Amino acid sequence: MRVDTSREADIGVVCGSSGSGKSVVIKKALVKAKRAIVWDIDDEYTGPKGVPGMQRVTNMRELVTKLAKSKAGKFAYVGKVTEFESWCRAVFAWGVCTAVAEELAGVTSPGKAPPGWHTLVSRGRKRGIALIAVTQRPAESDKTIMGNASFMRVGRLARAQDRKYMASEIDVPESLLSGLKNREYIIKNMAANEYFRGVIQIPENGAKSLTAVKIKENPLTIEA
Ligand SMILES: Nc1ncnc2c1ncn2[C@@H]1O[C@H](COP(=O)(O)OP(=O)(O)O)[C@@H](O)[C@H]1O
Ligand SMILES: [Mg+2]
Repeated sequence: MRVDTSREADIGVVCGSSGSGKSVVIKKALVKAKRAIVWDIDDEYTGPKGVPGMQRVTNMRELVTKLAKSKAGKFAYVGKVTEFESWCRAVFAWGVCTAVAEELAGVTSPGKAPPGWHTLVSRGRKRGIALIAVTQRPAESDKTIMGNASFMRVGRLARAQDRKYMASEIDVPESLLSGLKNREYIIKNMAANEYFRGVIQIPENGAKSLTAVKIKENPLTIEA
């Protein structure tokens, strides 16, 4: 397959404590994707609250076979933590897709980016891979992605050390992050140095599916 390097593939970091709204915004974004693959360690991207058309795969050999055969498709890989490297290599080989790695702190650490992950982060863009890294504990996750990120989205973070770390990464006062409630987030476009404030709206009686979830994002000015 030809790899389209003109495509604008980017790298995003999404962080927030459990229930802050990390996954739901990503799921919404994947509804329109043609080629997507998720490291779905919590098994949440398929089923009633998942992404329509997303296939759940639990076996690495099956994943590799399916990717090789699929021009288009969305795949959620529900595997073991030890398979993360294989997943990274499979994504890199497939190319031209949106790739989501959920719960990065479970498979990487600050001092160490596993080689397959490092390749995805440093060379994925050239292969048309838009990479989204998700973490509840940014202070304890791989740091190589931070320097390569084109956007960072920060939701409510329960731990002070994570708020402090992310406030510094996106260059905002810590108080802005400690004021965030569940389903609220700040997003920074790193290249443009632009900020947005987002809120996820879920109907009073709960949302049975993604279609009932609304997302609002407005520009935000950061006072110096
Ligand atoms: N597909 C979905 N449809 C409707 N509501 C959802 C869906 N996924 C998550 N939610 C709701 O959105 C809120 C944020 O959840 P989620 O994005 O999964 O949090 P996180 O990934 O940060 O742990 C929760 O109230 C959750 O119940
Ligand atoms: Mg989640």
